Amino acid sequence: MTQRKGIILAGGTGSRLFPITMGVSKQLLPIYDKPMIYYPLTVLMLAGIRDIAVITTPQDRDQFQRTLGNGAQWGVSLTYIEQPSPDGLAQAYLLAEGFLSGAPSAMVLGDNIFFGHGLPEMLAAADQRAKGGTVFGYHVADPERYGVVGFDQDGNVTEIVEKPSTPPSNFAITGLYFLDGTAPERARAVTPSERGELEIVTLLESYRTDGALQVEQMGRGYAWLDTGTHASLLDAGNFVRTLTDRQGLQSGSPEEVGYRQGWITREELMARAKMFEKTEYGRYLQAL
Ligand code: DAU
Repeated sequence: MTQRKGIILAGGTGSRLFPITMGVSKQLLPIYDKPMIYYPLTVLMLAGIRDIAVITTPQDRDQFQRTLGNGAQWGVSLTYIEQPSPDGLAQAYLLAEGFLSGAPSAMVLGDNIFFGHGLPEMLAAADQRAKGGTVFGYHVADPERYGVVGFDQDGNVTEIVEKPSTPPSNFAITGLYFLDGTAPERARAVTPSERGELEIVTLLESYRTDGALQVEQMGRGYAWLDTGTHASLLDAGNFVRTLTDRQGLQSGSPEEVGYRQGWITREELMARAKMFEKTEYGRYLQAL
């Protein structure tokens, strides 16, 4: 199988959360001690993906590039692609078509945060599926805020709908999509929704109606955190703080994942640790 490539749909300033432009993209705000985008980035890295496109706005490209660079410090390659206006998540596949050049992909939203024992295995299983798509269903209290899965009595997926006023279930689709090489071609057939966006759920429906969509349940042992409201942004920071302090282990560290994957050497890791030597994070990297 062709090596799967990664996409981070990073967004930009002017999000719904901070409609007044603060000059900083939400995805670069800290979740406790790291920029938000480190968490989805390390999810792709845990899936073994090294060739990654960061899609952002023309105005925000510079700040993402300044923060993340070309990825070599973590043993990955980052390519930057501009999305002139936020016309929908499915548009990412049109913009990234040249970058993907037929390869299967894993796309993650820049504001989605995942934790859980067994996450690497779950990602590996999705990566193994060369054909079709895999998405993850997660039980939430407020499904109307998300893409939601409908099931029939036998548990088969019957529909995926975006922000339904009467949700068919409590299972939201997380912002992590493993799709095969046909995604750009399928995205071309997606027409704008009522709200004027190329909806990801329409693209997923194309896979589902072909019998090519796998919906994996992300069980209650996982945390899928959302940063869509001010309160949930703060909650995510507190969650990471609690976990980090209690375990003495970092989550969302691209240095650690790159090192453990064997993509950077001990010397390269030490060089990064030196950069942050006055911080807890630097001492953590040193101790690795
Ligand atoms: O978080 C999971 C949910 O993400 C899914 O359950 C939904 O099906 C999916 O549509 C999406 O819903 P959101 O309401 O969270 O999407 P939002 O428009 O907020 O966009 C998510 C991120 O992607 C956000 O950080 C901004 C970025 N984005 C969004 C659009 C529409 C872009 O970079 N470009 C875009 O065109």
